[in-house]
Amino acid sequence: MSRSELDPAVRLVCQACNAEADPKDPFPFRCPAASNDDDVDHLLVRHVSAKPGALSPAAGIVDDDPNPFVRYRRFLASYQTAMSSGVGDAVFVDWIRDLDASIAAVDGRGFRVTPFGPSDDLSDREDVRVWIKNESNNVGGSHKARHLFAVMLHLKLAAHLGSDLADRSLAIASCGNAAIGAAVVARASDRLLSTFVPEDGHPATISRLRELGAKLEVCVRTTDMPQGDPCYLGLQKALEDGAIPFTVQARENGLVVEGGLLIGYEMAAQLAAGGESLDRLFIQVGGGTLATSVIAGLREALAFGLLPRMPVIHAVQTASASPLQRAFGKVASLVDKGADVERALEYAAHHRSRFMWPWETKPHSVAYGILDDETYDWLPIVRAMLETGGHPLVVSEQELMTAHEAGNEAMSDSGRVCATGTAGLAGLEQLRGTGGLGPDETVGVLFTGVDRE
Ligand SMILES: Cc1ncc(COP(=O)(O)O)c(C=O)c1O
Ligand SMILES: [Zn+2]
Repeated sequence: MSRSELDPAVRLVCQACNAEADPKDPFPFRCPAASNDDDVDHLLVRHVSAKPGALSPAAGIVDDDPNPFVRYRRFLASYQTAMSSGVGDAVFVDWIRDLDASIAAVDGRGFRVTPFGPSDDLSDREDVRVWIKNESNNVGGSHKARHLFAVMLHLKLAAHLGSDLADRSLAIASCGNAAIGAAVVARASDRLLSTFVPEDGHPATISRLRELGAKLEVCVRTTDMPQGDPCYLGLQKALEDGAIPFTVQARENGLVVEGGLLIGYEMAAQLAAGGESLDRLFIQVGGGTLATSVIAGLREALAFGLLPRMPVIHAVQTASASPLQRAFGKVASLVDKGADVERALEYAAHHRSRFMWPWETKPHSVAYGILDDETYDWLPIVRAMLETGGHPLVVSEQELMTAHEAGNEAMSDSGRVCATGTAGLAGLEQLRGTGGLGPDETVGVLFTGVDRE
């Protein structure tokens, strides 16, 4: 079947220059026109066409399987390439199940739709209805492995189609949940992973990475680093030398959004099953891939019949590093001066460095998972906040600690969540404290990572 006959049909198109990734290219990770020095914010985003109601169960496109990658496989770009290359549906499902079983052998669990439901304790505390999507018991202890599973499916397909990607090592910049998620998926696939980590990486994370067989590349931060995170710079050097971007930054690998957007599909389906909808969603933002992905999933759920309306989006960052808030302020001021939102976003996409640049000082926070020097994937989040009437929230250490305690008290039956993982709740509490919530609202918060302390 040719790709244009598929329904749904997924294309990956650059948000800035509109170049399209060739699905048959074994390396469809970055915008094909991307250059490191044109100041254009090249980022592949999904353009999906499908019949109305395609995501609702009645359409028969979504299966009722506990594994989200099986359930929603027909919406993945790699599935589409597989089908148009003569790989059958049953073979693709086998790939998912085999990889998932190997992941379970490495990590003790495979991918399952994660819980999303109302928390009575938090609803009482906040005086609004609070729904929690809990990713902290997912593979690798966070949502991060989801992003990389989508990439691994593509690599499996590329190997099947005869590309030489199988010989290349995988590379990631992270010393936290993303590195662990990547290392679990790489180990389960017998692939070598290089992780570019800082010198002060958390000992529990470093030792888990060693157990998983990841190769550690320690990157030293000098006191004066206007050019950004040394781990990210180390990663870029490895990519230039031919490594595969197995890293949770969509600007390096657009396919990571596919794994993460299933969070948005799941949330829409879980709300629909409860006859509910969300007024607002709070998402903690580091490099920005999580929020970019969840927003993409919710938008598609809206387009294809599963979500009645988009929630107001609030990105949450720490007072110690808030490059997204800085960028949002600059785009919003263009709008305040009379530019329409689309024009302002287009201008920002073509003058990236005037909006997004590395944070100048080394940040510290209990929510250390969201201290990225830059919000690498930032523009889709700014777009979503402008279009839904949301805005970023910057929370203090005290607010983070209070939310960490309250979040864990409320979720005491399902294991401890880290302070990065509860940071969205700190954003909600701040907005409530400033009178920014309506009395009858239903709001969503993501709990994203296990507490390894
Ligand atoms: C637990 C947790 N939550 C949220 C995030 C933020 O995700 P992103 O960096 O994609 O914005 C991270 C990133 O490291 C994380 O570890
Ligand atoms: Zn581009």
